Amino acid sequence: MVKKINSCVLISGKGSNLLSIIKSARDYNFPITIKLIISNNKDAYGLKYAKKYNIPHKFYSSKNQNQFERNCLSELKKNSIKFLCLAGFMKLLSKDFINNFKYKIINIHPSLLPKFKGLNTHKRVLKNKEKYAGCTVHYVNYKLDSGNIILQKKIFIKNNDTAKSLKKRVLTQEHKLYPEAIRSIFK
Ligand code: GRF
Repeated sequence: MVKKINSCVLISGKGSNLLSIIKSARDYNFPITIKLIISNNKDAYGLKYAKKYNIPHKFYSSKNQNQFERNCLSELKKNSIKFLCLAGFMKLLSKDFINNFKYKIINIHPSLLPKFKGLNTHKRVLKNKEKYAGCTVHYVNYKLDSGNIILQKKIFIKNNDTAKSLKKRVLTQEHKLYPEAIRSIFK
């Protein structure tokens, strides 16, 4: 049995990537354990997974970023959290916050970074007539979707793909890539 690293997942929405990490973390060989889930949206669907799997969870409003980060830091400390996964977390973290967890915060983005940082990725990918789409797990730095890349998965864009179908196909890959990236970090 590996000594698992106490980790927290930050979410804002559906939490399908959170679910894939929770499921992977049940494997005794998986390097991290999810000790805490934090949402900045009290209605995030992903909080249902926290309840279902009995994982401690907190909602903190991020309207006041300083307050949000102070709340998070204190809760992370209280739970001895050493590693953070952002999974559909829709708020940029400050440089100060990130400095507390250098190379210990990762994120997943639904594009082949460095291409298509930011929102509405799939729509922009199709508009640009790209041949490939995909997803990236990367370290978080203080610039949006710009930290060092850990792993990427590329998929071929079909002629009849829409932003919706592409989102769905990329998301399926995200659910495999995120746990794989976590394993690769701690290998
Ligand atoms: C995913 O596409 C992720 O790459 C992006 O936001 C979406 C979140 O989906 N950052 P979910 O909340 O994990 O279902």
